[in-house]
Amino acid sequence: MSTKEKLISHVMKEEPVASANKVTVVGVGMVGMACAISVLLKDLCDELALVDVMEDKLKGEIMDLQHGSLFLKTHKIVADKDYSVTANSKLVVVTAGARQQEGESRLNLVQRNVNIFKFIIPNIVKHSPNCIILVVSNPVDILTYVAWKLSGFPRHRVIGSGTNLDSARFRHLMGEKLNIHPSSCHGWIIGEHGDSSVPVWSGVNVAGVSLQGLNPQMGTEGDSENWKAVHKEVVDGAYEVIRLKGYTSWAIGMSVANLCPRWSSVPSVLGNSGLTDVIHMTLKPDEEKQLMSSADTLWGVQKELVL
Ligand SMILES: NC(=O)c1ccc[n+]([C@@H]2O[C@H](COP(=O)([O-])OP(=O)(O)OC[C@H]3O[C@@H](n4cnc5c(N)ncnc54)[C@H](O)[C@@H]3O)[C@@H](O)[C@H]2O)c1
Repeated sequence: MSTKEKLISHVMKEEPVASANKVTVVGVGMVGMACAISVLLKDLCDELALVDVMEDKLKGEIMDLQHGSLFLKTHKIVADKDYSVTANSKLVVVTAGARQQEGESRLNLVQRNVNIFKFIIPNIVKHSPNCIILVVSNPVDILTYVAWKLSGFPRHRVIGSGTNLDSARFRHLMGEKLNIHPSSCHGWIIGEHGDSSVPVWSGVNVAGVSLQGLNPQMGTEGDSENWKAVHKEVVDGAYEVIRLKGYTSWAIGMSVANLCPRWSSVPSVLGNSGLTDVIHMTLKPDEEKQLMSSADTLWGVQKELVL
């Protein structure tokens, strides 16, 4: 008799139950693992699957996570380079692909990552035809469009992390300037996740008090408090982190976990089946002009893509 048999009397074979809330992360680089740990620590899934093309890295990461099972509620963590491991995911987070080198713009990554997506997206669709795809790889706005085209999914089931991270960076910096926690500082960055992003100064508020109401020059060159520099820091922040540590990871990981129940790039509502509503922001004419210009920048790249 084995130790197990001496310890446990078997009564009945349990029927296998499919995961109700399975999350897959494709790409176990710096961003993918930051997303994985954030999702796990927030108890957002009952099963986590990881996929990558680098088998040793995948095995090392899965072992490292499994060694922490004692501290997690997610009872199943699996990994493989074969996409069958992702079967029946509710949400698939795509972080695979090339990242920016020091000083490189996000838009510059486009064709390399489009080619990677041509392999990844059909495999996701094959094994999880009802999932929501959340794109994180850069340039995220364009790759979200690419993923939507390649998947054949309805538009509400293919979303991008968009400017969720940019807005988080903005709220952090706003909080530092006002000495208030970011959760009480409200402001939106919209448009491209990148150089042409647009700060909506007219909506910046604390406790419903419009800061532009208090400082009508906010966001303009004539502002003696130079709030414009806060948006510049949002745009430059990623370049600076990449210059200092080689990549960005923690904030995007936490922002993805935050998106599991919600979403934005223009502010939107996320439900169980994906994107349900888009908020009509009241923009001032100059903000609307900047948003259109950001959209034109993206379209300029998008229309040249070979899919
Ligand atoms: N949206 C955002 O706000 C945001 C923020 C930070 C980074 N990013 C982007 O996230 C992406 C990942 O960044 P990173 O720092 O983790 O890069 P990384 O180089 O550390 O990891 C990328 C991973 O993708 C894997 N990969 C490559 N081809 C693959 C394929 N065909 N199938 C599966 N996996 C594959 C690689 O093996 C690697 O493990 C980049 O495009 C980066 O620009 C986005």
